[in-house]
Amino acid sequence: MSSIAYSALGHRAQSPTIAQLMKLMLENPGLLSLAAGFTDNQTLPVPAVQAAVERLANRAGAPEYLQYGTNAGRPKLRAALADRLLAMETPPDAEMIRRNFFITNGSQQALYLAMQVLCDPGDIVLVDRPSYFVYLEMLTGLGVQARSMPVDADGRIDAAGLAALLESLRERGELGRVKAVYFVSYFSNPSARSLDEAEKNEIAEALTRAGVNVPVVEDAAYRELYYTEPHPARSVLSLPAWSAFPKLYLSTLTKPFASGLKVGYGTSSDAELLAKMLHVKGHHDFGTANYNQAIFEEVLAVGGLDAQLAVIRTGYQRKMRALHGALTEAGLPGLGWKWSVPGGGLYLWLTAPEGMDTGMDSAFCHACVAAGVLYVPGDLCFGDDAPKNFIRLSFGVLGEADLAEAGRRFAGVAKRFG
Ligand SMILES: Cc1ncc(COP(=O)(O)O)c(C=O)c1O
Repeated sequence: MSSIAYSALGHRAQSPTIAQLMKLMLENPGLLSLAAGFTDNQTLPVPAVQAAVERLANRAGAPEYLQYGTNAGRPKLRAALADRLLAMETPPDAEMIRRNFFITNGSQQALYLAMQVLCDPGDIVLVDRPSYFVYLEMLTGLGVQARSMPVDADGRIDAAGLAALLESLRERGELGRVKAVYFVSYFSNPSARSLDEAEKNEIAEALTRAGVNVPVVEDAAYRELYYTEPHPARSVLSLPAWSAFPKLYLSTLTKPFASGLKVGYGTSSDAELLAKMLHVKGHHDFGTANYNQAIFEEVLAVGGLDAQLAVIRTGYQRKMRALHGALTEAGLPGLGWKWSVPGGGLYLWLTAPEGMDTGMDSAFCHACVAAGVLYVPGDLCFGDDAPKNFIRLSFGVLGEADLAEAGRRFAGVAKRFG
């Protein structure tokens, strides 16, 4: 036991679950991992990055890209990403979207900055159900409580349930502790679901009726990772139901291009919220790696992001089909397992038969590891009241043949428990 007197945050800090899953991987060579949310190695854009690096190196003048940059990010990159967002939808105040654009070390940093400036320990954030488990762990680390917004059997936001939740928070005197609402709105991690505009509107309307005007954080990390069609819903930036709320829209270049460059971005409808987040970012790092941003400027200037997306959209669709096909052929649906075929993203979200425990310490999980396949237990993906019979399978990393084999191994265990 150390004698170091840690802060409250230091005391709360725990090893993230993903670290445990990675440890399992290292201890079990031959294990096929459907757990890590990593991207596909085979299609990482080496030539595009090489060309960008060469153009930068050959550029006349001072190599400013190897110098510190600005806290909010490179103006040209911000402008290019704002253009990209404004090509997808037309929010009422496009100028504000541009003005308040910022760059972060992945969208993960933006999430952390937002939570740091909005929440104190004991505060509450309303989250989607299921939700992004690394974000949920972050909330735990900050001492912030996640409360799931209720959903119906199809996973749609249940407006009446949300109204009842807000009412019960009011009755317990906790409504004032609600500091933000968060959801992953396109091809979600973990559920692969997208929220349609009606659902987003219903959340805003329930909050409005309850008199709760808190910032909404829309996490659009997978918006551009659709397979054939973008999801048609506009973001909260454009929806009139959200017009009176402070809005934070976050996305990333890691999943659609190269996670190793770790560049994320966002924009806000609220200049003060943004300024506070950037003050804290100043304390963290006073600016995301200038060089990585410069590479993205080059990539975007020659259409490199769209070219990469064209490659990986079909690639991920093929990989999704390989895993989906293996699970289906092995007869999982007949055993009561359910999942939807995603239109984008990196995940299959499986519902195991009622009553089955798929948690990290369950017999099922141990049997999967013994059979050489790893998954993310779905109970990690719930802010509260976590059911045990869900599983997230990621098809980002493995090739099609390995995905098919991993699917067969998984199905083999499911049959034994069936
Ligand atoms: C829903 C969601 N949001 C945010 C992130 C953070 O991504 P990054 O920090 O690489 O931009 C991830 C990464 O897996 C994610 O799945």
